[in-house]
Amino acid sequence: MSTDLNAINQAIFPSTAARNAEGELEIGGVAATALASDYGTPLFVFDEREFRARAKNTVTALRSEFQRIGADAKVYYSSKAFLCVEVARWAIEEGLHIDVASGGELAVVLAAGIDPKLIAMQGNNKSRAELREAIEIGIGSIVIDSAHEIERLSEEAAKLGKTVRVFLRVNSGVHATTHSFLATAHEDQKFGVPLTQAAELIERIRSDANMDLRGVHCHIGSQIHAVDGFVESAARMTELVAELSKTGPVPELNLGGGFGIAYNQAEVESAPNIFELAKQLADTVAVACERAGIPVPLLSFEPGRSIAAPAGVTLYTVGNIKTVDLTVSDKAADPADLGYTERRYISIDGGMSDNLRPAFYNATYTARLANRTSSAPPALSRVVGKHCETGDIVLHRALLQSDISEGDLIAFAATGAYGWVLASNYNYVPRPAVVAVRDGESRLIVRGETIKDLVARSVY
Ligand code: LLP
Repeated sequence: MSTDLNAINQAIFPSTAARNAEGELEIGGVAATALASDYGTPLFVFDEREFRARAKNTVTALRSEFQRIGADAKVYYSSKAFLCVEVARWAIEEGLHIDVASGGELAVVLAAGIDPKLIAMQGNNKSRAELREAIEIGIGSIVIDSAHEIERLSEEAAKLGKTVRVFLRVNSGVHATTHSFLATAHEDQKFGVPLTQAAELIERIRSDANMDLRGVHCHIGSQIHAVDGFVESAARMTELVAELSKTGPVPELNLGGGFGIAYNQAEVESAPNIFELAKQLADTVAVACERAGIPVPLLSFEPGRSIAAPAGVTLYTVGNIKTVDLTVSDKAADPADLGYTERRYISIDGGMSDNLRPAFYNATYTARLANRTSSAPPALSRVVGKHCETGDIVLHRALLQSDISEGDLIAFAATGAYGWVLASNYNYVPRPAVVAVRDGESRLIVRGETIKDLVARSVY
C-alpha cells in the first residue's frame, strides 16, 4: 500500500472534502476541527451539495435514458439509508419521490411537509395500523410483499372505504453478488413473492375493488457492483410485465435500488456509474419490450446508499492507544499481517453503536487523520470503538500514521448510509448528532442524544 495517508480521495469522500492550508480536513468548506469543537464527536457530517448532486444526477441519468427509449423514469429516495426532516426535503427538492419502510419513517417524511402522493411504503410486515395510516393519508403507493398482505391491505382499505394504489414485490430470482445478508431476490428469504406466483396474485389484486394495481416491483439487494445483476433482473421483470400485460395494464415497473458505492480505493473502479448503468438498463428494457411487443412502461428506482453514503463523513476523537506485540500473539497471523511485528489499537469515542456495518457485514472503510497531516511512517492499525465487545471494530486493518495519538480527529468516509440509522445505545452511549455543511457554513439537522435523554427512559 503506497497510498498517501494524508490524501483525501474525492471518489470516496464528498467532492468538497479537501485539506486546508493548515492541513485540516474540510468538508463543505468547514474544518473538521471547527465541527468537532462546535458539536462534539462522534459526529455525522452531511455534505448537502454532495447529497443533492447525487440525487439530481440519479434523476437526470435515469430520466434521460428512459426518455431516449420513449418512456420515462421516476426515482424514489430510499429513506432507510438515512432520514431526517431536512434530508427528506433535499430529496424532494431535487425531484425525487421517497420510499419509507415503517410508520416511523413515514412520520418523519410527513413532518417534512411532503405530499403523501410522492411517498411509497414498503416492508415485509407493515402493521395494520401502518397500512391504515398510509391509506388514510392517500399515500402514493403501497408495495405489497406477500399473498397474506393482499388480504390484510384489502380488509383495511375496505373498512376505510378507500382505494389504494399498489405494487406487488416479486423476486426476480437474480442472485446479486453481495454480502448474503444484503441479497434479497433469492427465494429462501423473507421478502417478496416468487416469480411463479406473480400472475395469480396480480389477478387477485386486479379483482379487488379496493386496490388499483400500479405495477410490479423487485429489489435484488444492496451495495451491488456487478451491473449484470441489475441488467438480468431488468430483463426478467420486463418479461413478467409483458406476460401480465396480456390480461390487464401494468403501468409501472419498479426495479428497486442497490447501486453500490466505493468505500475504499479498491472499489473506486468497480462502483457503477449511474449514467452508464442507466444506459444499460434502458437498452435492456427497450430490447425486452420490443421482443414482447409491449410499450415501455414507466420505470422506477429506489436507491438509498448511492445518494446518501458518499455525502456523509463521521468524525471521531482518538482516546486510548495500545500496541500489541504480534510475535507473541497466540492467534495464527492473518496472512496480510505477515511481516508486521505489532498492531496499534486506536480507540475512538464511538464504535459499533454508530457504525454497525463493520461488525455486521465485515464492511471496510477509509479513515483519515482529520485535524492535521502527518508524515510519520505507517503502522499496522486497527480502529476500535469504546464498547464492551471484542468485535467492536470500525476498521479492521489499515496502515495509519504511527504518531496518531489521543486528541487527534479521525474521519471515516462514506458513512452517510446505514450508519446513523442503524445506531444503537449499546452501553448507554448516546446516538450522535448530525450536522449539514454547505459553502463554509454548518448547521445541526439532528440533535445528538444526551446521557440525560437516555436515563430519562427508565421508569422509576
Ligand atoms: N428498495 C428496497 C426494497 C430495499 O429493501 C432497499 C434496501 C433499497 C431500496 C435501497 O437499497 P440501497 O440503494 O440503499 O442499496 N443495512 C445494509 C443495507 C440494507 C439495505 C436494505 N434495503 C447495509 O448497511 O449495507
